[in-house]
Amino acid sequence: FEVVWDASAAEKGGWSSFMAKEVSEEPDAVANTIRGRVHDGQVVIPELDGLDEIFTGIRRIIVIACGTAAYAGQTGAYAIEQWTRVPVSVELAHEFRYRDPVLGDDTLVVSISQSGETMDTLMAVKYAHERGAKTLSICNTQGATIPRESDAVIYTHAGPEVAVASTKAFVAQITALYLLALHVARVRGSLPAAEAADHVRELEAVPGKISRVLETEQAHIEQFSRWMADTQSVLFLGRHVGYPIALEGALKLKEISYIHAEGFAAGELKHGPIALIEPGQPVFVIVPSPRESAELHKKVVSNIQEIRARGARVIVVAEEGDAAVLPFADEVLHIPLAGPFFEPLLAVVPLHIFAMGLATAKGLDVDQPRNLAKSVTVE
Ligand code: G6P
Repeated sequence: FEVVWDASAAEKGGWSSFMAKEVSEEPDAVANTIRGRVHDGQVVIPELDGLDEIFTGIRRIIVIACGTAAYAGQTGAYAIEQWTRVPVSVELAHEFRYRDPVLGDDTLVVSISQSGETMDTLMAVKYAHERGAKTLSICNTQGATIPRESDAVIYTHAGPEVAVASTKAFVAQITALYLLALHVARVRGSLPAAEAADHVRELEAVPGKISRVLETEQAHIEQFSRWMADTQSVLFLGRHVGYPIALEGALKLKEISYIHAEGFAAGELKHGPIALIEPGQPVFVIVPSPRESAELHKKVVSNIQEIRARGARVIVVAEEGDAAVLPFADEVLHIPLAGPFFEPLLAVVPLHIFAMGLATAKGLDVDQPRNLAKSVTVE
């Protein structure tokens, strides 16, 4: 009788891969990132204590990151600008420092990095610091180089992420950006306290809603991703906060299933991408909430009709109860109702499950995709 101890299987806690384990931890990643940062319905981030003067003095925020972290930045930027009324731009770290950007002490550069070691992001932070900008990093790894080189840090508490493709860190990064936005909005007085408290409540409800998506949709998505194992290309459309989620859905598919995938802003469809639509082309559409944004919802539904008329196979990610999309969808992935800006934290979950399901159906190693590294420490 011999006991075989498989250390790697033990670390995966019974899951088939680290990625599967990490997707299952997305609710905890959000909850743990919020913990200790909400007091009496208001966001107070202890790590940002003493920085009020910086937050009241800034006139501009630039978010820099690479890969999935950059899409988290693009998602969070909408809420930061809306709630703080400070103009926000988002840039890939490796593009940022080669265009001689205008920087000064009224600029806050927010870097986002799971590892805290990505060389392109680190060099961009140093560059911004040398030119007098204030630097704040959002990082998942305690004591990593990027937070050490920054004026301030907000740690995401997603726990160690092992799979190369980032999942739970992504939702934790968006959470940290929302917390930052609410903290800065409080300091600047740019958001009525009651409204801020509503956003806090919505954020606190996210972990439970992600768990619901995992419970209700996982088996369904895994099933149809198996049928799609020999698909050559997948398109993703989204609008407003759904746009960076479309980009993230496409990136995840490229990274782990080696399938050509592109994300587009739905409004851009008629300016080019619609030429790609031919019978059978799978297209994921992230549909905005009809309650929160009737106008955008209507526009995206009409995009769906346009691609459906050309034979696309339409997979929609839509809010529960959204009946308008049903007649035009081949598959519907439901997400619970959420307040404005919070939908991306739910809509990305089916896309992570889909990428994983397709890669698994193709027999690929989802944790260690070819040619990629978890942390890119060269320029
Ligand atoms: C690599 C990884 C990606 C990650 C990116 C940024 O390319 O493969 O999954 O999104 O780096 O990494 P960071 O650690 O800076 O978030």
